[in-house]
Amino acid sequence: MTTSLETKMLAKIAAASDTGALETLRVEYLGKSGSVSALLKSLGAMSPEQRKADGPAINALRGAVADAIADRKAVLEAAELDARLAAGRLDLSLPAPPRRAGRVHPVMQVMDEMIAIFAELGFSLAEGPDIEDDFHNFTALNFPPRHPARETHDTFFFPPGPDGERKLLRTHTSPVQVRAMQRTNAPPPAPWIATGSAPPIRVIVPGRTYRRDNDATHTPMFHQLEGLVIDRNIHMGHLKWTLDQFFARFFELESVVTRFRPHYFPFTEPSAEMDVQCDTSGGEVKIGQGSEWSEIVGCGMVHPAVLRNCGIDPDQWQGFAFGFGVDRLGRLKYGMPDLRDMFASDTRWLAHYGFSAFAAPNPASGLS
Ligand code: DAH
Repeated sequence: MTTSLETKMLAKIAAASDTGALETLRVEYLGKSGSVSALLKSLGAMSPEQRKADGPAINALRGAVADAIADRKAVLEAAELDARLAAGRLDLSLPAPPRRAGRVHPVMQVMDEMIAIFAELGFSLAEGPDIEDDFHNFTALNFPPRHPARETHDTFFFPPGPDGERKLLRTHTSPVQVRAMQRTNAPPPAPWIATGSAPPIRVIVPGRTYRRDNDATHTPMFHQLEGLVIDRNIHMGHLKWTLDQFFARFFELESVVTRFRPHYFPFTEPSAEMDVQCDTSGGEVKIGQGSEWSEIVGCGMVHPAVLRNCGIDPDQWQGFAFGFGVDRLGRLKYGMPDLRDMFASDTRWLAHYGFSAFAAPNPASGLS
């Protein structure tokens, strides 16, 4: 009985012309009140002998019908997809509309690379305000009042306030050294601003700085990254090792040749500028080869007067400090010719010199 039934059902399934018709057949056979389901239910009312005789055939029928439906369904679905694709107007050969992805500004990229390297060397981050007072920007850093050294920073001053005090746009990140060392009872002007801590201190300070300057190598707003280490028995050797480590990693070299050149800063004694070996003969600056020197960073041993101004005993503690021009360092690594272009907000420049936000977080990753 089940064989002729099965033949009939399988023939109907094979003849189903679309997935809708197939579904109707499925309900008709295997649905709750379907004919195969009814046969399965009838097993319950049979005597054990009859169930033994008919059971396997009925179960086999259910299996064969279910398999046939699944097979036919796959065939019909593939055919229907083919038909839809053939009828559709989607032209996959058309070029996609351009996708404008944002780029990371080279200055921010370079900052991030520098921060990652100094973080590996054990430095933590400190920040200060862009609008400073004379004490933090000059006086505490050992620029005596009316001293000519103040004039070397072409400062943007604000009009005097009611108390006669003239605030200024910080001319360097060095005032944050003072904030990192000076422990006062006064609350910081903002929650993100460094409050002083007891030595040992090991901080870097990335940030914006301002001077009245504007040419191919100077912009009125620029970026510096300051470093400060205060500990016991610190000397110039520690400073040189730290900067050499930094340069090798930043310029992705095995090692770099550097030299100290004597210099003057009011807040360090002795003071130096550090130069790295370079070659400019091919029109671009190549770091780590050649016989020329590129001046990169101001540095020195923190002046005892600065330590004293910040409440630190110079007989107990010494330290070194350094200050990089971040934009300049970026130009050296990535070769932008004119510093002013960095802040002209020209998206074509950014598309060329910018970085992918999704580049590997390797601090030393190159142009993407
Ligand atoms: N503040 C200096 C400048 O703007 C850079 C600098 C030099 C920072 C020596 C330092 C330092 O901390 O020790 O030219």
